[in-house]
Amino acid sequence: MTLLRVRGFDVYKGFLDPARQAALIDALRPVLKAAPLFSPKVPGGGQMSVRMTSAGQFGWYSDTSGYRYAEQHPSGRDWPDIPEAVLEIWQQLTGLERAPECCLLNYYGEGARMGLHQDKDEADFSYPVVSISLGDDALFRIGNRSRGGKTESVWLNSGDAVVMGGEARLTYHGVDRIRFKSSRLLPKGGRINLTLRVVV
Ligand code: SIN
Ligand code: MN
Repeated sequence: MTLLRVRGFDVYKGFLDPARQAALIDALRPVLKAAPLFSPKVPGGGQMSVRMTSAGQFGWYSDTSGYRYAEQHPSGRDWPDIPEAVLEIWQQLTGLERAPECCLLNYYGEGARMGLHQDKDEADFSYPVVSISLGDDALFRIGNRSRGGKTESVWLNSGDAVVMGGEARLTYHGVDRIRFKSSRLLPKGGRINLTLRVVV
């Protein structure tokens, strides 16, 4: 494992070995079964190219009326619990007593991307956001605490983790593109990104 510091983000390259990545995928299967992926609409009226779902007390949600946390999946059912294997990673990386209340799961299929944004729908920015990458490589772009200015990009590979906290908690970030089928972790290709958040 190597730790890079990029614009205040801690990037742990190779944080999860292949066995732990596979175990994590197994732990996520029941989550995806209980709370299937959906394609969120955005306030502008378009649709995100990533598909998503969540585990935990809250799930991140978006539609034409805005971005927010919701207590139920669009099906009307509660979100499934965050798998123990995911909570272990949070614990290992943050050492915090408090557990995250949302594990957002973003699935990037071929051509999916995510524009530069801040994670700012949470109540307390003193808690970090932890990101875990599984599957195909992604070009992750890191900007500044306000829109615009220079950015830096880093490839995130399967098993990498990023801690976005402290001074960088509100730093803009996004995913320009993935290298579809660069990994064999997911049988149909694509990338799963988990972000763990303390919400309230
Ligand atoms: C996110 O910012 O919610 C996702 C970041 C990523 O996919 O690496
Ligand atoms: Mn984000």
